[in-house]
Formats: sequence, structure tokens, C-alpha cells
Amino acid sequence: MAKTPMRVAVTGAAGQIGYALLFRIANGDLLGKDQPVILQLLEIPDEKAQKALKGVMMEIDDCAFPLLAGMTAHADPMTAFKDVDVALLVGARPRGPGMERKDLLEANAQIFTVQGKALDAVASRNVKVLVVGNPANTNAYIAMKSAPSLPAKNFTAMLRLDHNRALSQIAAKTGKPVAAIEKLFVWGNHSPTMYADYRYAEIDGKSVKDMIGDDAWNRDTFLPTVGKRGGAIIEARGLSSAASAANAAIDHVRDWVLGSNGKWTTMGVPSDGSYGIPEGVIFGFPVTTDNGEYKIVQGLSVDAFSQERINVTLNELLEEQGGVKHLLG
Ligand code: NAD
Ligand code: LMR
Repeated sequence: MAKTPMRVAVTGAAGQIGYALLFRIANGDLLGKDQPVILQLLEIPDEKAQKALKGVMMEIDDCAFPLLAGMTAHADPMTAFKDVDVALLVGARPRGPGMERKDLLEANAQIFTVQGKALDAVASRNVKVLVVGNPANTNAYIAMKSAPSLPAKNFTAMLRLDHNRALSQIAAKTGKPVAAIEKLFVWGNHSPTMYADYRYAEIDGKSVKDMIGDDAWNRDTFLPTVGKRGGAIIEARGLSSAASAANAAIDHVRDWVLGSNGKWTTMGVPSDGSYGIPEGVIFGFPVTTDNGEYKIVQGLSVDAFSQERINVTLNELLEEQGGVKHLLG
């Protein structure tokens, strides 16, 4: 018997990430090849944006996706989020050349307060929320705080792109395939302060740290390359990453819903106090996922270098949080 369709909301649906994301969701890449989906697409009320959204929907129609059980366009989060099982909050103002994420904090805080309230009012009580729009961790924090009747654990931020970037750098350095790399993850904020940690990573049971053997490469090449990759792509493309961001969003939600088969991955999730991160801060942690739930990997030791890096990214997040406190009532 066919499964009941799942409702997936995507905000910023006419944007560049939206264009790389929607076709893959409708194709079954997000929730499985046997899972029908209904797309509930939100754009700003602006005539041009709504018209562009209609154009994207025409193209989705023209793909005749067998799993697509319905699709609607919205200009109001209260209708877009009605009964949704998954909400991908992509729509935000993207960072341009020379801008840091912090610059966008105030403008985006407004958006995520409204959207958090709408999720609180009308989404499924089990909705899984992924915030992609930057500054992603703090936007997820705002949405979570604006939705007090939903479980806080349902709100997550995207660190998976950073995780995937770290995987590809390690694969290139070791000459091994990405699929062979285990136990790599990223701590903290989706910003250049993130700390990609390969101390526990393994390839075919061998320590990646031992294979690389050179701590200077970690400090001087790996961490800056992964941390500044978003900026490097903006510099090169004149636009922020889109297809790789959409791909990471798919990876994040697919693993959350369908499980990571015991593999470690990275999600930005509200801290439960693990590793001394204050409760509620949306922080990149190593997680495993099973049965629609994530679990923070416990018991990892944190050496002095790692603690220093974790403190830097945590302090940045606390500062961002402080900057939006007045908007949270
Ligand atoms: P884009 O400008 O191409 O598209 C954004 C879309 O969102 C636009 O169509 C805009 O009209 C819409 N939008 C703006 N405010 C909205 C609102 N309140 N409700 C609904 N829609 C709204 O941008 P993009 O390249 O698709 O990037 C989207 C966001 O994702 C940016 O904030 C970008 O910085 C971020 N991003 C995050 C990551 C990550 O790893 N977390 C990676 C890449 C990009
Ligand atoms: C990225 O990491 O590619 C994005 O967050 C883009 C940006 O705004 O830095």
C-alpha cells in the first residue's frame, strides 16, 4: 500500500538554493524513493518573487515526478506551514562579498521570529525543522524560542555543508574515497569559527590523524580552508553556494528521518549541556541518528587546542544570541 504523503515546506523556494533543492525532494532524495511528498512553498509576497515561484512550479510539474502528491505556493507562513512534517527554512537575505553573517543578524531575526510563531501555531507537533538561511544557528535559535509549544529538539541548523567540505578535504589529503571516512564532524557555528575535528576520524579502521601526521596542516590549511569555504565560493561565483548547500540540506534531513546507520555526522542542534555548551545554544555536534531522532555522541575528550577552538565558536554564538535577545520578548 502506498505511504501517506509527507508535507514538506520550503521557504525561499524561488531562490537559488530552492532551485537546486525542490527537484531532488520531489524525486525522493529527501525522504525515500517510496515516500510521496506534498511541497508547500513559501516566498515573499512581492509580485516578482511569486511569479518566479510559479515558474519553478511549472518546471516541477513538467518533470512529472511520480512521488509528488501535491504542490502549493504561499506568501504567508501560516498557510505554508500548515500540518508540515518537515520545514526547510532557506529564505533569508544572502551574504554578499565582504559581509559577515553577523551583519545580517537583525534583518533575518525578524523573518525567523515570524516563521517560528507560524510553525508553533500550525505545523505538525513532530515537525522537523532545518534552518539553512544565515546566520543559520542563531536563526534556528530564534525560531525555536518563538515556538514554545513545539519540542526544542525539533529545531536544527545546517552544519552538514561544513561537514561535507571537511570530508572532501580529508579525502583529497589522504587519497581515500569520502565514503571510507568515519567519525569526522564539526563543532559550533556555521561560520568561519567552526571547528572541524578529525582527531577521532578513521579510514578502514586507521586513524586519520596518524595518516596525516602533521598538526601544522590541520591548523594552517585544513581549518582555514573548511572555515572560509563559503566566502571562497562567494568570491569565485559572485553568489553563495547553492547546489552544495541544497545537497547538504538533503543529507541532513534524510539522515535525521531515515537514520545514519550508526555513522557519525554533524548537525546543529540545541545543546543539552554536553561538552559544557550551555543548554539551548544551537551548536554543531557529532551525532548519530536512528528512528527519526538524533543523539549527540558522548564521551569524547577535548584537548587544549580543541577547547580553545570550541570556546571561540561558542563565544561567537553567545554574542549573536545576545544581539537578538531584545527581539525575543
Ligand atoms: P537567494 O537570494 O537566491 O534566495 C533566497 C530567497 O528567499 C529569495 O527568493 C527571497 O525572495 C526569499 N525570501 C527572503 N525572505 C523570505 C521570507 N521571509 N520568506 C520566504 N522567502 C523569503 O539565496 P540563496 O542562495 O538561496 O540562499 C538562501 C540562504 O541560505 C542565505 O541566507 C544563504 O546565506 C544561506 N546559505 C546557508 C548555507 C549553510 O550552510 N547553512 C549555505 C549556503 C547558503
Ligand atoms: C556557505 O557556507 O557557503 C554559506 O553559508 C554562504 C555564506 O553566506 O557564507
